[in-house]
Amino acid sequence: MLDQQVLEGLNEEFSNERNNAEVYEALASQLRVVNWAGAARWAEHAAKDERKHARILRDYIIARNETPVFTSIDTPPLITGDELSVYFQAALEREQATTLKITTLHMTAWNAVDIETCTFLLPMVEEQTRSTAEIQDILKQLSRTEVDPKLVDNELAEAE
Ligand SMILES: [Fe+2]
Repeated sequence: MLDQQVLEGLNEEFSNERNNAEVYEALASQLRVVNWAGAARWAEHAAKDERKHARILRDYIIARNETPVFTSIDTPPLITGDELSVYFQAALEREQATTLKITTLHMTAWNAVDIETCTFLLPMVEEQTRSTAEIQDILKQLSRTEVDPKLVDNELAEAE
């Protein structure tokens, strides 16, 4: 049987991933408002990934013979402005906060000697490292004065 604290943590992360999807949808929407179409596509893709993460958590909770809990979605922060880096800074902060939540949940599972949940969470931690590195790279490119943000936007349009 799943430890109560671990179950609560898994449900919280399920909720966090659903909220992450909404955060990226809002980012994509604002990027479309200011006509950064490539970055908007990138954010729409990220929203899709977040929904996948939520389903992975849902399925794990069910596999452990428990019931996933749906909570209401929070209002996502409103990011505005013409500068592309502002949107990626917001995305980076969101990813960093998510990494902290997942690693904290891993510690909870570890303390409960729930090796199954620890094992389940590790690929999620790895994915966090990858997503964070990708956003950091985009921010590095955008911080270079010789790089035209329009070119970065065009590249993001092709990102999978
Ligand atoms: Fe995620």
